[in-house]
Amino acid sequence: MSQYLLSIDQGTTSSRAILFDLKGNIHAVRQQEFPQHFPDSGWVEHDPEDIWSTVTQTCNEVMAEECGVDDEVVAVGITNQRETTIVWDRKTGKPVYNAIVWQDRRTASYCKSLKSASREPAVHSKTGLLIDPYFSATKIRWILDNVPGARERAERGELAFGTIDTFLLWRLTGGRVHKTDATNASRTLLFNIHTQQWDPELLELFNIPESLLPEVLDSADDFGEITECEALNGVSVLGVAGDQQAALFGQTCFDVGMAKSTYGTGCFLMLNTGDKALKSEHRLLTTVAYRLNGKPTYAMEGSIFVAGAAIQWLRDGLQLIENACDTEPLAKDTPVDHGVYLVPAFTGLGAPYWDPNARGAIFGLTRDTGIKEIVTAGLQSVCYQTKDLQKAMEKDGMRPITLRVDGGMVANNWVLQFLADILGARVDRPSIIETTALGVAYLAGLKAGVYESLDELSDLWRCDRSFEPIMTKQKRDELYEGWIHAVQKL
Ligand code: G3P
Repeated sequence: MSQYLLSIDQGTTSSRAILFDLKGNIHAVRQQEFPQHFPDSGWVEHDPEDIWSTVTQTCNEVMAEECGVDDEVVAVGITNQRETTIVWDRKTGKPVYNAIVWQDRRTASYCKSLKSASREPAVHSKTGLLIDPYFSATKIRWILDNVPGARERAERGELAFGTIDTFLLWRLTGGRVHKTDATNASRTLLFNIHTQQWDPELLELFNIPESLLPEVLDSADDFGEITECEALNGVSVLGVAGDQQAALFGQTCFDVGMAKSTYGTGCFLMLNTGDKALKSEHRLLTTVAYRLNGKPTYAMEGSIFVAGAAIQWLRDGLQLIENACDTEPLAKDTPVDHGVYLVPAFTGLGAPYWDPNARGAIFGLTRDTGIKEIVTAGLQSVCYQTKDLQKAMEKDGMRPITLRVDGGMVANNWVLQFLADILGARVDRPSIIETTALGVAYLAGLKAGVYESLDELSDLWRCDRSFEPIMTKQKRDELYEGWIHAVQKL
């Protein structure tokens, strides 16, 4: 008989169910992509029913095919694309509108009006976030104001709000559980990260009834028993965390100064700041990294909206490549100083620029620019954006003591070498790059008593390969300067 932890990893473009053994090794994975909806310029939506069906199907499939009758799933963890907002009817469980995705920019002008009214400093102090369409609050408000009858129903207590974790918990437990964890709550713009409570002043500012909100638990906690997913019925959800925080946890960045950078749809660099919620003066975010036994650990975060999505665009939009892995040989065959800069600001720019109205552009095209240069520029854009975050962190007085990387893109050795070169810092890739799912498996395992301490988890981390910088400082500065010029031209 074998014992497993099952992670549900509900991401921006796909849902996955991953079975881990208790040593943190992947036993089996099932994945399903689902459609993205772009109903208007800068709008991004998901159908919540697609999210639900892909989650249950992948879970049922991995269990039926990979978990024998004698095997046991000790606990389930949920990790999710953060900020994405769903409002649903408490009686029927039916969403009143599609999920408004974290990348969606429809509330940009409302955010601008709040900033013009000088609301940002107070919001920043309480939440660690900036006023930007990225976060949930203005998305909830949009739904209440634009779906006929929604505000009245919300005021009567008939509706519930949740980020994806909360929606899945609700569905998995047949509507018995309306909960989230502190990491997801900390991305809503409604949660005071110092008091660890929903903040009445913020609810008033965004005009959101408190009855909509879920209860906030620790990241390793009892979130309830599953009753609505055949193969998992009877198993409890014991870990929940937003995907970036889960990756930090899976990378076992438990000490102050340890950092990770995850390259999924976007890229998110997070640095553990311990029990101090440090305030950035350079437009980075302060967020809850994880909360255990009621005690929050904080992180500083740089959020880039487009990383892997740029490669997806090169593949599906421009059709310059057939597969993401084709990018590595093309880049290897191209000098790094080819002069083309691709700024993938498809959904605005995140940290440290925070410009929701910026849009993407390619600079430096000449008659001899070809597919190789554009593809390489796409890969390099991800590294330059990470450099932007590193610079902002340094200005805030923080330099990561280690940088651990993960996410699909880090299978590309060329990217990691260029990243180390452009950062001028060592980059470590772990042997398991699915650290998001691993992190929430660890959280669930902690609550289940499979693991006794964070030290025990740290001992499980294994380095696959370290990338040391080899580029000269002069070349690095030259290349980065070109990037800064390109961004300024936007
Ligand atoms: O904040 C958005 C983030 O959680 C999305 O993550 O993995 O879909 O890029 P990912």
